[in-house]
Amino acid sequence: MKASGYDRLARCYRMLELLAFGRALERARFRYFDHLRDRKRILLLGDGDGRALALVCKLAPTARIESLDISAGMIARAARRLSEADHPRVTWRHEDALAAEYPENTYDAVVTLFFFDCFSTNRVKILIDRLRPALAAGAVWLEADFALPPRGWMRLRARLWLAVMYAFFRWQTGLAVRELPPVNALLEASGLRRLAAAEWQGGFIRSAVFAQPGLSLNK
Ligand SMILES: C[S@@+](CC[C@H](N)C(=O)[O-])C[C@H]1O[C@@H](n2cnc3c(N)ncnc32)[C@H](O)[C@@H]1O
Repeated sequence: MKASGYDRLARCYRMLELLAFGRALERARFRYFDHLRDRKRILLLGDGDGRALALVCKLAPTARIESLDISAGMIARAARRLSEADHPRVTWRHEDALAAEYPENTYDAVVTLFFFDCFSTNRVKILIDRLRPALAAGAVWLEADFALPPRGWMRLRARLWLAVMYAFFRWQTGLAVRELPPVNALLEASGLRRLAAAEWQGGFIRSAVFAQPGLSLNK
C-alpha cells in the first residue's frame, strides 16, 4: 500500500466523493455523531481530510482528540481545516493503524469512517482486537462504511460500484483488498453491542454505533 497515493487523493477526495455519491457518505458519517457530544478522549482512525474532525471538535469542545492517518497529505488537509483554537487539543498521529500503539483503557469514543474497507477481514479483526482494550468504560464506537446489500438489483449495483472503487484505489494507492470485510459482525464478535444502525441506497451505505454491553441508547 502506498500512502503517497492517499496524499495525492487528499486534494480531490471530497470532490470525487460528491460526484460519485452526492451527500450520501456525509449523511452516513455524521448520522450518530451526537454520541460524541461532550466526550473526553476521542480516537479517529483513518481520519482523512478532516471533515469529521472539524465536527468532532464542535461537539466535544473539551475533548482530547487523536487523528491517526497513514497519509501526510490527508493530515495536512485536516490540519488546515481546523480552527486555531482547536489545534492544541488535537494530536496528529502519522502512523499505520496496524502498527500503532493504543494505550489501554483510554478512549471514550473511537470513530472509523470509510476506513475498514481498506483492509482484509483478517486485518480488521487484528485491528479490532488491538483497539478493544483501549476503550474506556462507557465508550462508544462509531462506524460507517459500504456494505453489500443482501439481494436484488441493489446488490448487483453495489458489486459494480465496489469493483470500480477497488480498482481505482488499487491504481492510486496499491490497495490489495478486493472485497469488503464484515465489520459489523467483527465488532459484535469482539463483544461490542450495536446500539443503532441506519442504511442508505438499499443497504450499500451503512452507519452504526456500538458500545460495551450495558450501555443504553440515550441519544
Ligand atoms: C477512504 S479514506 C476515508 C477517510 C475518512 N475517514 C472519510 O470518511 O472520508 C481512508 C483513509 O484511511 C487512511 N488509511 C488507509 N490505510 C491506513 C492505515 N493502514 N493506517 C492509517 N490510515 C490509513 C487513508 O490515508 C485515508 O485517509
